[in-house]
Amino acid sequence: MFDQVLQEVEAQCREEKIPMLGPEKAKFLAACVEKAKPSLIVECGTAIGYSGLWMLRVLKTIGAGRLITIEIDANRAAQARTNFERAGLADLVDSRIGDAQEILKSIQEPVDFLLLDNNFDNYFPCFQSIESQLTNPATVVADNVGIGADTMADYLAHVRERYESDTHWFDIDLPWVKQDAIEVSIYRRSLNY
Ligand SMILES: C[S@@+](CC[C@H](N)C(=O)[O-])C[C@H]1O[C@@H](n2cnc3c(N)ncnc32)[C@H](O)[C@@H]1O
Repeated sequence: MFDQVLQEVEAQCREEKIPMLGPEKAKFLAACVEKAKPSLIVECGTAIGYSGLWMLRVLKTIGAGRLITIEIDANRAAQARTNFERAGLADLVDSRIGDAQEILKSIQEPVDFLLLDNNFDNYFPCFQSIESQLTNPATVVADNVGIGADTMADYLAHVRERYESDTHWFDIDLPWVKQDAIEVSIYRRSLNY
């Protein structure tokens, strides 16, 4: 059933031009989750659950870890919840509706994996909202750092200056983008900052 739901969600995103990672970047994201084996992933920007399904599948295979995913569009969040349920993964995910920058402030648990995939100008405010809950170290993954570089310049300057950060470029087969990048940063608390 999982494969069928994933295929249907991908097809719907392509048809309705709902933004999603796409398979090229999603495979990379899944490998990041597999490597980190996080206890708690927080995702900013659920859309209808495409990236969430990829991450949840890894958590299910590992047998540990949960996802909190945040979406400002209530209609998209509702569709994502249905998709998580249909894939049999709803018990691993807490889907929240609202502005990520605000909802992040209410998370009181340690967060060891953060995915930023919401509006580009909100990456740095979101990072700052959750920083006090990030574990030391924590994996921070930011999507769209190719096409959104100018708008998220404050975020990119921050993580590239302070943390081990790598930019990964992808050729992408989506109607609205053909090339883009993901930034993976290993957050570490430092006494110098
Ligand atoms: C690129 S899409 C997310 C794609 C999704 N991660 C995936 O790969 O399937 C960005 C989403 O962020 C949502 N969004 C935009 N601004 C937001 C905010 N301030 N807080 C939460 N979600 C936001 C949009 O409604 C949109 O659905």
